[in-house]
Amino acid sequence: MAKICFVGLGYVGLVTGTCLADFGNHVIGVDSDKARIESLAQGIVPFYEPGLDDYVARNLENGRLAFTDDLLGAINASRIIFIAVGTPSSSDGSANLDAVFNAARFIAEHVTDEKILVVKSTVPVGTCSDIDRLVRGILDQRGLAIRVDVVSNPEFLREGTSIYDFTHPDKVVIGTESASAQEALKQVYRVLYLNETPFVFVNRETSELIKYANNAFLAMKVSFINELSGLCEKVGANVQDLARAIGRDGRIGSKFLHAGPGYGGSCFPKDTKALAYMANKAENPLKLVEATIAANEDQKARMVRKITDKLGTVTGKTLAILGLTFKPNTDDVRDSPVLDIIEGLLEKGAVLKVFDPMGMKNMQVYYPHNSKIMYCNSEYSATESSDALIITTEWHQFRNLDFTRLGSILKSKIIFDLRNIYDPALIRSFGFEYIGVGVIS
Ligand code: UDX
Repeated sequence: MAKICFVGLGYVGLVTGTCLADFGNHVIGVDSDKARIESLAQGIVPFYEPGLDDYVARNLENGRLAFTDDLLGAINASRIIFIAVGTPSSSDGSANLDAVFNAARFIAEHVTDEKILVVKSTVPVGTCSDIDRLVRGILDQRGLAIRVDVVSNPEFLREGTSIYDFTHPDKVVIGTESASAQEALKQVYRVLYLNETPFVFVNRETSELIKYANNAFLAMKVSFINELSGLCEKVGANVQDLARAIGRDGRIGSKFLHAGPGYGGSCFPKDTKALAYMANKAENPLKLVEATIAANEDQKARMVRKITDKLGTVTGKTLAILGLTFKPNTDDVRDSPVLDIIEGLLEKGAVLKVFDPMGMKNMQVYYPHNSKIMYCNSEYSATESSDALIITTEWHQFRNLDFTRLGSILKSKIIFDLRNIYDPALIRSFGFEYIGVGVIS
């Protein structure tokens, strides 16, 4: 099986590298963060992703997975090099590609034999061709006539279910016109290829754009239903019934039609902004993508208004917030809509008691524990003596709360269910006021 190296052991690099080792490839994971390498070598995964620690341990043990900070050694030992470093948003929305180009430059300056460079990081259209030119230029300067193919291979993993997503993908996208690189990648993903997963072979530009278009479309779907949730509230309609009905139309589909507090995470916000920036630069603005971004900002602000309008004022009131992560089954709070909701409520003078099963540590990077935002050790301690309860992330453990107990410890029996996880009639039967998203209050 193929010898592969992964440069960058963040979420994407670690999940993908580990799963490819599980497919039988020999994988070396490289990261410049020595502490991360040392703990990974002992099987300690630096973030929460269900099942990943078992996968890492299993493949470390069978010798197909190794971790190092020696980039040169890893490059020399591998024919295929995946670049999976971060591409964070710059202040203008564009993707910051420094880490990607630094990795490509280092590789070009040090390779001595044929390689395939696979760009896994999400990069703007044209980046792989730019990397290709950079690599060729450096190889020419070095007087080396060796073949280095640059391939685009975007990822579509969802946090929280990434191992399932990796082993059951809808498609594998490979952007290259090199027949030998296509063949090599088929071998790397042999298990999926044999399972008849659709392989989409396209040119590099199309491959790069597929990733952005995929995420932007899903984000647009979420923003669409979120905008309609506001209208539902105004006209007395129910957004859940509406979503169920339109989702039955096979041309629309039922997924990604759950109204909520706005989308978040490491992909949708960043990728929609990068796509809008890219399109403007190409003098072909994407109005729907721009509207998607604006609608998402509005939805988060609308959640704060919903709470303040209902309570009259939140100044000096204590509010329990259940859920900090942008979705359940992750400890990731990056671009979580809860960040904006917290910010909005703090600005209006609320005191917050917050709880999340996994995201508390990461949230404290943004908001340290203080007298205005208190990190509690359970959903019930957060609710104790609070003026209202706000459910912001649909963790399983919040789906079956003890409402008799909550009723006795809350100052006022008001629940804001920003993920629509409860049946309003059930909650009202316990004497609570129930406020959902796009449902009649
Ligand atoms: C997403 C893409 O799904 C994945 O293919 C890509 O590789 C990375 O980005 P992820 O960010 O892990 O994955 O989460 P996802 O499950 O797609 O949800 C994104 C956001 O949309 C979350 O904040 C989620 O709560 C929100 N969402 C999703 C809704 O509000 N309603 C929905 O119906 C679906």
